[in-house]
Amino acid sequence: EKGTYPHYMLKEIDEQPAVLRKIIQAHRGPDGGLWLEEDTLRAITEADRLYIIAAGTSYHAGLVGKEYFEKFAGIPAEVHISSEFGYNMPILSERPLFIFISQSGETADSRQVLVKVKEMGHPSVTLTNVSGSTLSRESDHTVLLHAGPEIAVASTKAYTAQIAVLSILAACVAGTKGKSIGFDLIQELGIAANAAETVIDRKEDMEAVAFEFLQLSRNAFFIGRGIDYHVSLEGALKLKEISYIQAEGFAGGELKHGTIALIEEGTPVFALATQPELSANIRGNVKEVTARGAHACLLSMDGTAEESDRIVIPAVHPLLTPLVSVIPLQLISYYASLHRGCDVDQPRNLAKSVTVE
Ligand code: M6R
Repeated sequence: EKGTYPHYMLKEIDEQPAVLRKIIQAHRGPDGGLWLEEDTLRAITEADRLYIIAAGTSYHAGLVGKEYFEKFAGIPAEVHISSEFGYNMPILSERPLFIFISQSGETADSRQVLVKVKEMGHPSVTLTNVSGSTLSRESDHTVLLHAGPEIAVASTKAYTAQIAVLSILAACVAGTKGKSIGFDLIQELGIAANAAETVIDRKEDMEAVAFEFLQLSRNAFFIGRGIDYHVSLEGALKLKEISYIQAEGFAGGELKHGTIALIEEGTPVFALATQPELSANIRGNVKEVTARGAHACLLSMDGTAEESDRIVIPAVHPLLTPLVSVIPLQLISYYASLHRGCDVDQPRNLAKSVTVE
């Protein structure tokens, strides 16, 4: 039930800190360290390469997950859009493991890949919010997201849950391989949950941003580098899905290879600059677009922020920033949709789970 909330989406955005805390609890072992079901852990650890398969927002979470598996555990990982994978299969490694990410567990595009790789005899793990869903039943292992029912068509809390669970999976695999990830993930996820709460408390400011940057816009750009680039894709998807503003996410450095031609007087550009070592580069990209008339909204993090930055999130571990930086983007999309009189929870042409290929 949405209770006093005007829309499910707003309620689900608000639930994110609690979901993160629930995930931490669910993966805490008796010794206080990270815990993952043994068979699942073994299956992932035995693989020489991971193939992450998903659609939409879940695909965007997969892009972040790849970073965790490679950086924490040293396992190469590829992320594929499920609707493309079936007929465009890459050369598989000797011991591949397939990770399906699906909030609903019912996405037909992802299921057709699962059917195919099962026929080929490859092991699979599904990350889903729905126990007993098709993908969960048909894959070898399931890891639950603990996000609670997600009703709004626009996925919000499932995205952050997927990223948190992927970080835990990767850290557990690292542990099994005797690798240190260099920081205390449980503690850092707790810090991220608190930071998420702080951002959620700034709704009025996000509403003001939506009004200032998007009220009259027909299009918008989201740019970022590294992990911020992955989040920019999600920010753009959220905006187009519920506000019908044409929005695209781009790698900051790629803009000048063509897309910058679209920048004109007043074009909104949301630039993510949370990564300390990439901050200077992305700020350079912001200068390039503002010189051409763009109306830039910079989103940075405490520690690397500059005075003129419009949105500053509290400091979290640089690899966990998506858990927090996506929230202002979700809220901005929410308010843009609301002020344009769109149907926030049930956008046109879309269904919550896409059960046709
Ligand atoms: O249930 P799934 O995670 O498999 O769904 C995948 C996409 O259809 C879904 O994430 C979609 O992109 C959302 N509506 C985005 O907000």
